[in-house]
Amino acid sequence: MTEYLNETVFTWGGVPLKFGAGAVDEIGYDLGQQGAARVLIITDPGVAGSGVPQRVADAAKAAGLTVEVYDRVHVEPTDESLAEAVEFAGRSAWDGFIGVGGGSAIDTAKAVNLLTTYPGELHDYLNKPIGHGRTPPGPLKPLVAVPTTAGTGSESTPVCVLDLLGLKVKTGISHPRLRPTLAVADPLLTLDLPPVVTAASGMDVLCHALESYTAKPYSAFPRHSPETRVAYCGSNPISDMWAEQSLRLIGRAFRAAVLTGGNLAARTDMMLAATFAGMGFGNAGVHIPHACGYPIAGMVRDYVPDGYPPEPLVPHGQSVSLTAPATFRFTYPTDPDRHLRAAELLAPSAVRRSDPREQLPAVLAELMRDIGIPNGTAAVGYTETDTDQLVTGALKQQRLLNVAPRAVDAEDLAAIFRESRTNW
Ligand SMILES: NC(=O)c1ccc[n+]([C@@H]2O[C@H](COP(=O)([O-])OP(=O)(O)OC[C@H]3O[C@@H](n4cnc5c(N)ncnc54)[C@H](O)[C@@H]3O)[C@@H](O)[C@H]2O)c1
Repeated sequence: MTEYLNETVFTWGGVPLKFGAGAVDEIGYDLGQQGAARVLIITDPGVAGSGVPQRVADAAKAAGLTVEVYDRVHVEPTDESLAEAVEFAGRSAWDGFIGVGGGSAIDTAKAVNLLTTYPGELHDYLNKPIGHGRTPPGPLKPLVAVPTTAGTGSESTPVCVLDLLGLKVKTGISHPRLRPTLAVADPLLTLDLPPVVTAASGMDVLCHALESYTAKPYSAFPRHSPETRVAYCGSNPISDMWAEQSLRLIGRAFRAAVLTGGNLAARTDMMLAATFAGMGFGNAGVHIPHACGYPIAGMVRDYVPDGYPPEPLVPHGQSVSLTAPATFRFTYPTDPDRHLRAAELLAPSAVRRSDPREQLPAVLAELMRDIGIPNGTAAVGYTETDTDQLVTGALKQQRLLNVAPRAVDAEDLAAIFRESRTNW
């Protein structure tokens, strides 16, 4: 057999999908097909208040299933909130789970599925170097994901993310076995999403698409064996295709979805964009903006955004977007054509900058300003004196930084954080 030094193989995994207005009302039939008779719905109080989890429960009960609802997921889950959910779920035997909500609810459902199906503590499965990175011993129970934000793409990804309160760091579990068995994406569920949540979760979609599109190509990684091949394998022709389609839809619909909430066409485009971006980044991976987003969210002091539970919190989508303009200025030399193509897909009629390196950062900054994203890390409470600690936090995300298209050291990250204090 020929010996290759570099990777020649990439993998692409996905989740069966049911998409469209009204899709959620068919969930009883879909659960029946998965062979689940007793299911636990996992959601957060805000989503529960929208009535959607009850609607899902009614549809499942009408199909003859036994259903209970757990509605105490923490928005931006933590090790503590997860332990509470696992304790609740562990009181009964479930054949399957339904995560109803944004990434917070769906990620909690993924971790509950793992930790109630197999022995072991959360720490055993968390990504290295924070946890032991243990592989789930076998397949998990059926998990149907019903996203109510157009954002994380968690319905199609192999990861879940949470805050470790003691360590003040965000990390997660990453393994293909975590993928839901079915995603049911119904854009009608996002019509009442508050503008601030629409903007933040949409920026998460945009960063997924841009980061996976500009990620280090799979063929630039060292050759893996089938056992060691990672879930995030770098940009590849299949993920690229999803990322490009996602960028085109975001360019067409994002502003309208935020500024005219009840616009079903824009909501449908953004839901599709989130699903497409999930299909891309869920395989290729994300890099610097997400690595920087983790300490920006984890070190929050007193920033309390509108539209979220009233507690200090930098929503995930805001946290990952704040360093995006500076990042794409930094990565531009690795593949100028890709950066320009991304800007073109997002804003076909944008004014051409005399310095092409500025084209994508400018398109991003203009969009972020229009939809009300805070103007840089200063606007969510960080000062120059926080830079070293932010850099230390970002450096812990080696799994993500390894997917960046060029090597990134502490000095590079410090420059990116400094440039991102204000974005316009
Ligand atoms: N697993 C992954 O692949 C992945 C990827 C990116 C982010 N994440 C994680 O996902 C979380 C963020 O998820 P998110 O941005 O989807 O938001 P979210 O789940 O945190 O929800 C944000 C807020 O919107 C409310 N909300 C959600 N849907 C609603 C609706 N239809 N109507 C009214 N209110 C609604 C919630 O109650 C909450 O207050 C973070 O913890 C992040 O780390 C996971």
